[in-house]
Amino acid sequence: MTTQKKYLVTGGAGFIGSNIAWELIRQGHAVTIVDDFSSGHFKNLLGFKGDIITANLAETLPPADYYDAIFHEAAITDTDIHDQKLMMQVNVEAFRNILNYAADNEVKRVIYASSAATYGNGACPMSVNQTPAPENIYGFSKAIMDNVAREFASDNQDMKIVGLRYFNVYGPGEYFKGKTSSMIYQLYNQMKKGHNPKIFKMGEQQRDFVYIKDIVKANMCALTAKDSCVVNAGTGIPRSFNDIVKCLNEELGTKLPAEYIDNPFSFYQLKTQADIALSKEKIGYTPDWTLELGIEDYVKVLEARNK
Ligand SMILES: NC(=O)c1ccc[n+]([C@@H]2O[C@H](COP(=O)([O-])OP(=O)(O)OC[C@H]3O[C@@H](n4cnc5c(N)ncnc54)[C@H](O)[C@@H]3O)[C@@H](O)[C@H]2O)c1
Repeated sequence: MTTQKKYLVTGGAGFIGSNIAWELIRQGHAVTIVDDFSSGHFKNLLGFKGDIITANLAETLPPADYYDAIFHEAAITDTDIHDQKLMMQVNVEAFRNILNYAADNEVKRVIYASSAATYGNGACPMSVNQTPAPENIYGFSKAIMDNVAREFASDNQDMKIVGLRYFNVYGPGEYFKGKTSSMIYQLYNQMKKGHNPKIFKMGEQQRDFVYIKDIVKANMCALTAKDSCVVNAGTGIPRSFNDIVKCLNEELGTKLPAEYIDNPFSFYQLKTQADIALSKEKIGYTPDWTLELGIEDYVKVLEARNK
């Protein structure tokens, strides 16, 4: 039997935070969530029995309390937001606040969400050892969070600070993210309406699409990491947009061909691929879900929701 532990999950009303919270509850732990509901949704937490503190972490900290660990997922997640001051305040300053809060309350472990956006169009496979090359303020804010984390960890050797650079995450719980939801969810919705899935010409762009269950697994692995570190959380295998259409057609029993459209973005990551060697070494993370298996699992959930 597991001993019950007490965890704080920031951004717990959001896609990834709610999945982490539910996993911790499934394991029998006590979970408190902090969220300002700016992009999260209460429907991700229907049936949740823990406490929810509603606060903007850039301005207000939760009441002093001890936790076995903090999972920090709260952030501005819309990469199209270009207000630099706002992005830095919410992503970097709120994170600094959480780290100081952890130190003040003797919380010895903070696991936080970084991002593959730190790499921009850097060389693949993308390794945490390469110099970050973010192309937008969102990616820049995540790269600075990693710097803050490294410095904080070196000044606070009794604490473990683990940063996870998530790649392109998809899966249950992303329903309220609108245009920032995964391409897999957006294409599924188009195809369910009988429309041809719209992807950018010629669908050969590649991303490291990672299923939410692997992201939750990476967070659980981070609970046992012996050292502070920043590591990637992806599958290590880049897949194309055409591959997604193929998998969705297979799962839905359809034969809808892709409609190729012009890419309106001046900056676009053409390929992302996580180097996961360090993730295995530092936190013992290896992915379980290929794109085929992830989409198969996800479509089952989506179809059940549609009934
Ligand atoms: N989804 C992905 O593919 C992906 C990829 C890389 C990194 N990430 C990172 O993972 C984390 C979770 O992302 P997500 O996809 O679940 O997004 P999300 O938008 O669903 O979740 C973010 C949550 O943080 C909350 N929040 C935002 N600002 C806040 C503030 N100032 N104070 C308190 N709460 C606040 C939102 O209300 C929301 O519930 C984020 O840090 C994001 O940058 C996500």
